[in-house]
Amino acid sequence: MSIVEEIAKRRTFGIVSHPDAGKTTLTEKLLLFGGAIQEAGAVKSNKVKKGATSDFMEIERQRGISVATSVLAFNYKEKKINILDTPGHKDFAEDTFRTLTAVDSVIVVIDVAKGVEEQTEKLVEVCRMRNIPMIVFINKLDREGKDAFDLLDEVEQKLGLKVAPLSFPIGMGYDFKGIYNIWEKNINLFSGENKQQISEAIEFEDVNDPSLDDIIGQEAAEQLREELELVYEVYPDFDIEAYRDGTQQPVFFGSALNNFGVRELLDCFIEIAPKPRPKESDTRLVSPTDGKFSGFVFKIHANMDPKHRDRLAFVKIVSGTFERNVPYLHVRHNKKLKFSSPNAFFAEKKQVVDVSYPGDIVGLHDTGNFKIGDTLTEGEKMNFKGIPSFSPEHFRYINNADPMKAKQLHKGIDQLMDEGVAQLFTMELNGRKIIGTVGALQYEVIQYRLEHEYGAKCTYENIHVHKACWAGEEQADPEELKEFKRVKQKFLARDKQGQLVFLADSAFTIQMTRQKYPSVILHFTSEF
Ligand code: G4P
Repeated sequence: MSIVEEIAKRRTFGIVSHPDAGKTTLTEKLLLFGGAIQEAGAVKSNKVKKGATSDFMEIERQRGISVATSVLAFNYKEKKINILDTPGHKDFAEDTFRTLTAVDSVIVVIDVAKGVEEQTEKLVEVCRMRNIPMIVFINKLDREGKDAFDLLDEVEQKLGLKVAPLSFPIGMGYDFKGIYNIWEKNINLFSGENKQQISEAIEFEDVNDPSLDDIIGQEAAEQLREELELVYEVYPDFDIEAYRDGTQQPVFFGSALNNFGVRELLDCFIEIAPKPRPKESDTRLVSPTDGKFSGFVFKIHANMDPKHRDRLAFVKIVSGTFERNVPYLHVRHNKKLKFSSPNAFFAEKKQVVDVSYPGDIVGLHDTGNFKIGDTLTEGEKMNFKGIPSFSPEHFRYINNADPMKAKQLHKGIDQLMDEGVAQLFTMELNGRKIIGTVGALQYEVIQYRLEHEYGAKCTYENIHVHKACWAGEEQADPEELKEFKRVKQKFLARDKQGQLVFLADSAFTIQMTRQKYPSVILHFTSEF
């Protein structure tokens, strides 16, 4: 098979949702359809259970599972599907944002009863900013939930999407009868008794055909006709180009737990979802068919065994083929590296692979060469864009609790930051170190891992920071910048890349600082 055909076969995507909407269940059902697993319940949830904050075993358990579920690959109807796992827990949101840089499309799962929830809003916003094609799956139709039109409205209002329904429910909850598939023009009946079975769809070109009344009952048939009329009137026709540009989002309804609407979703997905897309680097747009290999690290996973400090760096292949034992350029280090046992992923297993193609993910064993965002090429000096750091939500000083282990602590912090567990800021004034995280849980993770993997002990000290603002030094007026640095010196730090960061204590301070030093532009992400 030629490389062009290999690329055309691949669909690399992520499933995002608020916890409990059904992401794990849907993933599992997709794997079942792909024949990658034989029974339900085989995919372990990567969820951090509620109340797990101080339960370190739970954190480790979660970490173990997320290695196994980082990439779930399977074949379905001659397509190779790679599902990239995204943690649902909000404390790990940054992980999810980074994974979104490696997907070519996304499926958003929404709970029919809860509608659009907070975490969904945040994740969809990131996808929207990047024009990532999204399909919306409204789940749990077997339960009482919101009215389908209200939900579509909510998706448009709260998520800022332009929806095009490709299926529509017939009833809901207790009265749920099935789904009319607008995409395939057929009806799939839901049978309460035989829930786990995959039922055959009934072809139905025209819902005005009177035989519909015999199938779903007169009342339901009339309601469906009315509702579909409204759907055709209010919502635009599905437009594949608009979907792929990220300007229109098709919507499916179903029940992942009951296998209902999942095959329809998958069949449509493999037809419409984009194959591996080109990616912007600092020098050019890199197309998958460019010939020469390039890829970037979007995730690093530390070994679970503290005695072996090697890590697994997950590389998304953007162009060309990645081959075992061929030296590639690590652009940041300007150093050639070759990999004797790159891992490919299949279902929940990994295996050594000789050749991988654009869209694929390879896991590379790493002893500390990589950090998130690193680019590998066949020799070209370029860096892929698009893994910015966002301002953390929590900030604490980190102190060394064992003076004999300063070196270990330093190394541990360094490596955990490379993995993207949290962000490190070093104060300009006194060199004190501040750890910034998205959620409080990470502090426990860091403390635990420093002790168990590096033999170092730390304590934390609270510091009041509202937001980290990256300050554009280069564009600033030199005199104004000097004054800003003098006045704000107590609040200035450097991030790991050496960029200047203003740790503002309130929204008001940010506003005042912007007014006073207009040429020192403050940004809430590290890339601007
Ligand atoms: P997540 O990964 O998005 O966090 O959600 P997950 O799939 O774990 O699903 C959360 C809960 O919702 C699970 O129940 C799951 O069984 C249920 N669920 C998923 N899809 C459907 C559906 O279509 N209909 C109904 N009624 N429920 C659904 P749980 O009780 O929390 O977990 P479990 O003990 O059943 O695993």
